[in-house]
Amino acid sequence: MDIVEVNDPADGELDAWHALVSSVHTHDHPEEPSPEPSQTVGWLLGGVPRRMWAVPHEDGFGAVASLRLPGDAAVRAGEIEIHVHPGLRRRGVGTRLLRSAAGALRADQRATAIAQALAGTPAVPFLESRGFGCVLTTQGLVLRTDEARARVETEGYAALDPSGYRLIRWTGVVPDRLAAAFAMAKRAMADHDEGESAWTPERVRETAEQVAKRGDELYTVAALHGTRLAGFTEIVVPGDAPERAFQYDTAVVPEHRGRRLGLWVKAAMLRWLAEERPEITEIETDNADDNEHMLAVNEALGFRPLREYREYQATASDLP
Ligand SMILES: CC(C)(COP(=O)(O)OP(=O)(O)OC[C@H]1O[C@@H](n2cnc3c(N)ncnc32)[C@H](O)[C@@H]1OP(=O)(O)O)[C@@H](O)C(=O)NCCC(=O)NCCS
Repeated sequence: MDIVEVNDPADGELDAWHALVSSVHTHDHPEEPSPEPSQTVGWLLGGVPRRMWAVPHEDGFGAVASLRLPGDAAVRAGEIEIHVHPGLRRRGVGTRLLRSAAGALRADQRATAIAQALAGTPAVPFLESRGFGCVLTTQGLVLRTDEARARVETEGYAALDPSGYRLIRWTGVVPDRLAAAFAMAKRAMADHDEGESAWTPERVRETAEQVAKRGDELYTVAALHGTRLAGFTEIVVPGDAPERAFQYDTAVVPEHRGRRLGLWVKAAMLRWLAEERPEITEIETDNADDNEHMLAVNEALGFRPLREYREYQATASDLP
């Protein structure tokens, strides 16, 4: 089975890519809704530079791999994703695709690669036998919005109103006057993800633009303290499948912690979405296992465990 590099994928190749990713998804997570074709395409064509490889098989693809190359090569890791059809596994196809991606990573002068795996799937022994180490375990959680709204009202979370703070909200890219303050608040997540220290106003805008390019909508609620942004929460609503929205970042700047701002912005977000987007029935999120405060906030709102993700990292020179 040969590996071909896919540049500027044609419609047929995008269809074949989606068909393969869907069959892997259905096999590995039958309980979860499959991605929509537009989600796969949006992900593949969405802004960030990337290289792609496929293994042609029968009328489509038997395996695919992508290497995303975001931002500055000197500081950011490359992101590797490999999918092998269930019928073609344990024949070395995944390893060969990883070799292609690793070669391209080194050619781009990147020092590290990251990849994600679901606990309990073959991706774990695969990555661990091929140079990756687990750096973070996160819990995938899901919330039913009707139950959460009932809780927000009965527990009074939306009415918390901590003194000295006010709420502000926007859709899409952050308003210019808040961009610098927002990037600073984003850096508050650095204590849970060291890579986040590189947040700048440009990167904040770029990330929001990518969400829009994919056809999805980004909602942000923030707590302001004077002109400082003390905390925020972000939700992304997929353009094609808005029933399940996704929690993006939530953070409270260290000096503003302990005032229930996390719960307050999340409760305000739930109220806002209830008015704007009543079709949303579920919100999915993931939490680092060591982020006890955010887990506590999410439990208070009624999030339930769905699955465990593992984030892996490798030094480029350790890869095949
Ligand atoms: C993870 C995945 C890409 C592996 O593809 P693959 O073609 O089967 O991988 P390989 O044949 O190259 O396996 C290489 C090694 O990984 C380990 N491995 C792979 N699958 C394994 C399994 N089910 N159980 C135990 N070890 C496994 C073995 O050490 C294997 O070497 P061996 O066969 O000589 O023992 C494939 O299972 C897949 O597509 N999973 C779903 C998508 C996914 O989760 N991707 C995330 C990784 S980026």
